[in-house]
Amino acid sequence: MTLQIVSVIGGKDGPAGTPYASVNPARPAETVATVQLAGADGFADACRTAAAAQREWAAVPAPVRGRVIASIGRLVEANTETLARLVTQEIGKPYAEALGEVREIVDTCDFFLGEGRRLYGQTVPSEMPDKSLFTFRVPVGVAAVITAGNFPVAVPSWYLVPALLCGNAVVWKPAEYAAASAHALYRLFTAAGLPDGVLNIVFADGAGTYEGLDRALGEGTVNKVGFTGSTAVGRAVGELCGRHLQSPCLELGGKNPMVVMPDADLDLAVEGALFAGFGTAGQRCTSLGTVIAHEDVHAEFVARFAAAVRSAKIGDPNGDVLYGPMLDHKFAERYEEYLTWIQPHHTVLPGPTGRMEGEGLFYHPVIVDGVRADDRLFLEETFGPIVGVTTFSTMDEAIELANRPGYGLSSSIYTTDPQAVFRFRSGVSAGMVSVNNSTSGAEAHLPFGGNGKSGNGSRQSGMWVLDQFTRWQSMNWDYSGRLQKAQMDVTEITPDLGFRL
Ligand code: UN1
Repeated sequence: MTLQIVSVIGGKDGPAGTPYASVNPARPAETVATVQLAGADGFADACRTAAAAQREWAAVPAPVRGRVIASIGRLVEANTETLARLVTQEIGKPYAEALGEVREIVDTCDFFLGEGRRLYGQTVPSEMPDKSLFTFRVPVGVAAVITAGNFPVAVPSWYLVPALLCGNAVVWKPAEYAAASAHALYRLFTAAGLPDGVLNIVFADGAGTYEGLDRALGEGTVNKVGFTGSTAVGRAVGELCGRHLQSPCLELGGKNPMVVMPDADLDLAVEGALFAGFGTAGQRCTSLGTVIAHEDVHAEFVARFAAAVRSAKIGDPNGDVLYGPMLDHKFAERYEEYLTWIQPHHTVLPGPTGRMEGEGLFYHPVIVDGVRADDRLFLEETFGPIVGVTTFSTMDEAIELANRPGYGLSSSIYTTDPQAVFRFRSGVSAGMVSVNNSTSGAEAHLPFGGNGKSGNGSRQSGMWVLDQFTRWQSMNWDYSGRLQKAQMDVTEITPDLGFRL
């Protein structure tokens, strides 16, 4: 059955727009949902509606907002299988991973429901008597959240949950090719009792969103932008926000390195590389880009890695597989382009490359050994089931190679040497470092985010994301009854600085 989906603004279904078919990538002839895409007007309207609803929501006591987050968590939990099945059907993520994705929303709600009773401000001593200083967290206002479809429900929840908890209204623009999953999550959020207009969902294409966002920023109806997606689009969003004096929360691509030291447990490293490189068909922002293997273990690592990839099962995401299809046609096409970056000096393992036989968007897993530091394959993100391998001899060289592509999201090192761990940690430019663990699969309450081409230093998740969705307000209260001038009317205690023992 094909779902019919439209934007929901202020609790009301939006008008028909340009139809878009969100298909099942395992069986592209099957349309999961027909989505009516709004244009720039629809997006700007939604931001105005959100701005009108936000003040009242901010006036709801934070612990009560926390109860709403608790209800969202329980609703998502109670609908786990249905939501996970839909994610698998719409973007081809293996069902076990889709269940994990839904769990990540519940974990996020569980973390933030308690934050409703914290959202601490501070009392700060004043330099003068009869005066007190305070800090308060103030909601930013309206958050416009634009998300990718590789994590169509978990990653959006990293924005929506804390944004709402902090007293903001939200306009959410999910990826069109994951519209049905997004719409289902939207319905679970509103079933928890969010007032109309506090959370709005707008389906639109990239150009319409950009124009609508520009307009809304100009009208002052958007006060924070959250964007998860490619580095190229993140750059455009960042430039637009900068023009409006705003700093967005950007979660962009990665070329995540995995360093394999000579003392590494090679089987463990292979297991990590298999999941990091090929889980979700390599379509996570945290997916493994390049294995940087020490020259002494390189040959053995590559042999075991190729054997593991050769025996991995790829296919129907409802089954027990390493990975399923590409997310959508657009991703399949881009991936085919990355395959053209393979050059004669590369060794391709374990065998065939490109699209597999059959109707689905399934692609062979590819290991490219012998990548060089100036290869495109080494320097640029290649969203899909392809992993490069290169070698190093010294730790300095490993760190230099890990940082060279200029991204800085996730990274990993396999070793049993604590000195190597800490040298790598302090040398690597990534926001996230795994030790004897895959580059992907971050837990939902540690700071998540990157540097360089992976983002502008913003962090999501845990208590750190509160700084994205609130701004600090400081207050000083002088109850002395006279004007006490800071820095001037301060009591002096005179030391004897010439004193010596
Ligand atoms: C993403 O691909 O945008 O750490 C996020 C991970 C997941 C999130 C990935 N928890 O791999």
